[in-house]
Amino acid sequence: MALVELELKDQVGILTINRPEALNALNDQVISELDKVLDSIDVNTVRCLIVTGAGQKAFVAGADIAQMSGLTKAEGEAFGKLGNDVFRKLETLPIPTIAAVNGFALGGGCELSMSCDIRLASETAVFGQPEVGLGITPGFGGTQRLARLVGMGKAKEMIYTARNIKAPEALACGLVQAVYPAEELMAEAEKMAARIAGNAPIAVRACKKAINDGTQVDMDKAIVVEEKLFGSCFETKDQRSAMAAFVEKRKHDPFENC
Ligand code: CAA
Repeated sequence: MALVELELKDQVGILTINRPEALNALNDQVISELDKVLDSIDVNTVRCLIVTGAGQKAFVAGADIAQMSGLTKAEGEAFGKLGNDVFRKLETLPIPTIAAVNGFALGGGCELSMSCDIRLASETAVFGQPEVGLGITPGFGGTQRLARLVGMGKAKEMIYTARNIKAPEALACGLVQAVYPAEELMAEAEKMAARIAGNAPIAVRACKKAINDGTQVDMDKAIVVEEKLFGSCFETKDQRSAMAAFVEKRKHDPFENC
């Protein structure tokens, strides 16, 4: 059985971390399979990706502690780089990504969810960065992405105390965008993904790039990032046909991704 599975449903990809016996903990093999699966996604046909964990209990319960327990300094740094490179690949995947967090999202699991564009959680989800309780720092981007998502104070509180938070608190601090009963989570994630997939794909991808790239630079540069991407949409057939439909007061045709 693959440790990372990819299922395609119409224009939506569903990527599942499939190691439920270890609560989907991320060892070398899971991370390298994740890397390969991300490389295999055709962003011209898949318009949105959902990332989730197998089983009822966990999204991902972190990096594999047994594997990390004997690492040297150099090996620890290399393991951090391995995870960071793959999570950055996920974060910069051209298409939108939704984490469907169906249980524990601790350490590397919380970090995996934060590398997605949007987080939807089940009522049973638990988030946290428990690393300082294990004698390490977060290692797959947690010190960076958590502060950007929930603000410096909340991120420092969570990371220094290693306190896990449940779904309602994750919603209140903006770490997740919505919480659903566990049995409804995937249907809701698929509904959101289908809605995204129904919009003009080139424009959606340009929005992701504008937000991701623009928030890394000052406002004067950021608005130029947007201007260029905004302009690029005007050479697409999808823009022409959607605007023509509006002007002619009719429903537009399905977007063609060109
Ligand atoms: N690494 C390796 N194995 C893990 C694991 C992890 N992160 N999390 C769970 N497992 C394994 C357990 O060892 C156990 O295996 P066995 O059945 O072979 O004993 C199995 O998954 C089930 O786990 P539990 O019996 O512990 O389940 P539980 O319901 O009693 O507890 C839990 C659930 C609270 C999530 C607990 O498993 C736990 O605390 N896990 C570790 C969470 C954690 O600290 N994550 C951060 C890791 S560090 C990190 O991720 C660094 C980074 O930033 C890259």
